[in-house]
Amino acid sequence: MTVPEQVRQRAQALRTEIAHHDYLYYVLDAPEVPDSEYDRLFRELQTLESEYPALMTPDSPTQRVGGQAARVFASVTHRQPMLSLSNAFEEEEAAAFDRRVREALGMDHVEYAVEPKFDGLAISLVYENGFFVQAATRGDGYTGEDVTANVRTIRAIPMRLEAQSPPSLLEVRGEVLMLKRDFERLNQQQEANGDKLFANPRNAAAGSLRQLDPKITAKRPLSFFAYGIGATENIPSLATHGAMMDFLASLHLPVAKERGVVTGLEGLLAYYRNIGVQRPSLPYDIDGVVYKVNSLRQQQELGFVSRAPRFAVAHKFPAQEALTLVEAIDVQVGRTGAITPVARLKPVFVGGVTVTNATLHNQDEIDRKDIRVGDTVSVRRAGDVIPEVVRALPERRPADSQPYNLLAAIQHVCPVCGSHAVRLDDEAVARCTGGLYCPAQRKQAILHFASRRAMDIEGLGDKLVEQLVDSGLVKRLPEIYRLDLVTLAGLERMGEKSAQNLLDALERSRNIPLARFIYALGIRNVGEATAKDLARHFGTLEALTQADAENLQAVPDVGPIVAESILQFFAESHNRDVLEMLCKPQQEGGAGIVLERSPAAEATEQTLVGKTFVLTGTLPTLSREQPRK
Ligand code: IVH
Repeated sequence: MTVPEQVRQRAQALRTEIAHHDYLYYVLDAPEVPDSEYDRLFRELQTLESEYPALMTPDSPTQRVGGQAARVFASVTHRQPMLSLSNAFEEEEAAAFDRRVREALGMDHVEYAVEPKFDGLAISLVYENGFFVQAATRGDGYTGEDVTANVRTIRAIPMRLEAQSPPSLLEVRGEVLMLKRDFERLNQQQEANGDKLFANPRNAAAGSLRQLDPKITAKRPLSFFAYGIGATENIPSLATHGAMMDFLASLHLPVAKERGVVTGLEGLLAYYRNIGVQRPSLPYDIDGVVYKVNSLRQQQELGFVSRAPRFAVAHKFPAQEALTLVEAIDVQVGRTGAITPVARLKPVFVGGVTVTNATLHNQDEIDRKDIRVGDTVSVRRAGDVIPEVVRALPERRPADSQPYNLLAAIQHVCPVCGSHAVRLDDEAVARCTGGLYCPAQRKQAILHFASRRAMDIEGLGDKLVEQLVDSGLVKRLPEIYRLDLVTLAGLERMGEKSAQNLLDALERSRNIPLARFIYALGIRNVGEATAKDLARHFGTLEALTQADAENLQAVPDVGPIVAESILQFFAESHNRDVLEMLCKPQQEGGAGIVLERSPAAEATEQTLVGKTFVLTGTLPTLSREQPRK
């Protein structure tokens, strides 16, 4: 059906007007019309679009209500990596930052852009020719998850940039968060509906952004603030970070009102104190402030160290502390058999959540702080960090209290499997010697294997793994791939639908990049970054299993300790059996996991081996120091 020109124009006028009201309401916090007028415009547009589906455009405000639910988030490679900031906790560390900057630039006084450090989630928005086309989470900084459909529901984010001739490409970097007042209202609603309450605005924002169904996200009041840019094409030339923020604001992107420009250390510290005073009355949670060298030319000159810029630093507010009582000390057995003492605390509200447990790390820590059952202790929690017992208050200690000794308390026996528990000479932790015989270690190994950044088997969580291991259904890790619908659906708290979802997730995980698989194995000292390096270097699992200490240490960042952990892992016959069962084809009774070779290794093998490449000229987006992927 052809759309009459008049209708087309009316639809366009409505879109522009609604976007304008969204901007006034969500970005400037200064609405001009009552909700009823807004709703009228919105409904008129909806009616036109349903009469003439050809009118529908992706930037239409009617598209914000949430589209189709996804089964998984696709992964997105950031055009420019999303780096992190180094932290300063004390004024001296802020002073050291300013000193390093001054020395590197050879200047007495440096101008800084200063802004709040939002306590939300980093996100990258891509605009092409002024249209919003994609949003991705930070992920590991290089690749994140495609959350475009969810981000479309955030009204503060323009679907179309306000500009006569918008840049052909603009990656906007910023933070998704929930305003404090929206968080309070959401929790009231959750309570009224009998749904679970969110601990704090950050958790509420994270939970809402990571919904596979954008219709759920659409009901959650998320906000956004921009704090920088990534890759760009055809943007006006900008001299300072401040000018760049003004440019983003001119495009109708939300930026913090509290941003500013100051000179020298005194300026930085005055800003820090001032924002500290304002913190309780700010509309959003912050966990510090960020200092950035204002001149973009100077930023380039300063460059990067590892994954953080040298030109910026986050000056954090001190973590919040509260007093409470240690009611008991229990132990937990981890994936590697480490037996960790955990303080069970009288519930206390600190740093935005109620804390009931805090790790005591190991015997040395307990001795150093002399923490005992019955002690009054000071508990600290900052951001996402696990709560920690800072110190005991011996003056409030009961008269009959005894120092705590972990091995004595458990009588040198693993409380989970009864195997001998020991503490090796060179180690701080006590360990269960039961290996994967110990259900606690098996559970943790399976949970790690299934975790999002490893095999990403959604639905294989805490409670289910507990049931599977305790019931004896899964005695060895590869047996998770033998579970069937009938068995799963028969489990407590498991419907047919979640059983089928889990089977689908298991099926999807059968094709997995080598790096993820290596990480999933849970080799001691092999984290995500090392797993990636190993995959890139060796290209296949076989090559990795056959490597000796020397081959392993040829990998960047692999030293003797990591190499030894890897060798020990593959020397263990149980681990070799598990690998074989995982990778054997399904027809032969295996789990049928297919490892995708690391693309970097392939490319290297085919084309680049033994050649040296020299890049000449300048790359607008890279400085010499900037890390290459
Ligand atoms: S700039 C190259 N500015 O803090 C540096 N980050 O550790 C890019 N954050 O993941 C970050 N407020 O999510 C920058 N005003 C701000 C910020 C900010 C919060 C977060 C961001 C990033 C983390 C850095």
